[in-house]
Amino acid sequence: MNRDIILLRAVEVAALATHKYIGKKDKNLIDQAAVEALEVILKNEKDFRLKVVNGEGELDEAPMLYVGQILGDLQNPDAKIYDMSVDPVEGTYPAAYNFAGSVAAIAISRENTQLQLPEMYMEKLFVSDEFRDLINLNKGIVEVVKDMQIFSGRRDLKCIILDKPRHNNIIEKLSEMGVIVRMIQDGDVLAAIDVVNGEADFVYGIGGAPEGVLMAALSIASGCKMQSKLVHYKTIWENEKETELRSQIENAWLEKHNIDENTILDDLDLISDPRARFFAAGITAGGSLKPIDYKNGKFYVNAFMASHGIARNIKSVYDIKKVNALKPGIKSIFDKYKR
Ligand code: FBP
Repeated sequence: MNRDIILLRAVEVAALATHKYIGKKDKNLIDQAAVEALEVILKNEKDFRLKVVNGEGELDEAPMLYVGQILGDLQNPDAKIYDMSVDPVEGTYPAAYNFAGSVAAIAISRENTQLQLPEMYMEKLFVSDEFRDLINLNKGIVEVVKDMQIFSGRRDLKCIILDKPRHNNIIEKLSEMGVIVRMIQDGDVLAAIDVVNGEADFVYGIGGAPEGVLMAALSIASGCKMQSKLVHYKTIWENEKETELRSQIENAWLEKHNIDENTILDDLDLISDPRARFFAAGITAGGSLKPIDYKNGKFYVNAFMASHGIARNIKSVYDIKKVNALKPGIKSIFDKYKR
């Protein structure tokens, strides 16, 4: 079967598996269901292999979808290998508490093109294709937004930003400048999908770094543009128990890659492949994606994919009885995670 359809099905089934636990206030159960679903779908696929570059963590902390794991056609040495960044539930909190914001997401690209990022923060600016030539984080967000306003002749640009105390000042400043700010609790990957779907002009703010790789794939695949800078955990959480240990890990990583917190990372620095592809499916979703739903033996899921400047929004309906006959693996997931 076509590789892109398999990847689309993988994120869709990951989303379906979470349905049982949406709103049950347990982030681990939600994550576990999606991780298992993705493994089952991807593990035995033929003709290609996927190497996890950004996944659930190192092997000692994650039995499935761990960094370095190879999934797919392990028997066939000629099967092409792709790098994969995967977040089975991007936005575990909103999924567990049934707020808007969570999706299952995968990015793939040619082998050895994705940067493996540590669990740190990242300042990200993701702009629609209209503004791709104006992006320049060196100037600072305010100056870039002024440039975008002048270029477009619109003051009332639409921006999506994570509603976190660290963003209070910039939210106020952008509002003063006439920008319409939509605040979200979680899920900047979904916010970037909204930009591609024309619901906003840009996403800005400090969020998770590994999510940045998914957003970079989306930016490359859709013709939008993203720039970022890594931000230390201690900049956000100065006095937490784990701050010291995290700083050591971050510093070692930064030194190894000759990057610091002032280095501007372009989307192609995170994934050096213009043919990167991005796949997602709505869990609690929101914005331009609908949440997953179940009625009378059928799952309804909104999926999304982008490649080569084409973004597709796909409404999929899974008739469980019929799909169960398709593959024992899929049936096992549906049986296990039936609500
Ligand atoms: P998780 O999937 O790890 O729950 O991340 C959700 C998320 O909202 C991301 O979309 C965002 O980049 C990051 O968390 C923000 O981090 P924090 O909640 O620590 O400010």
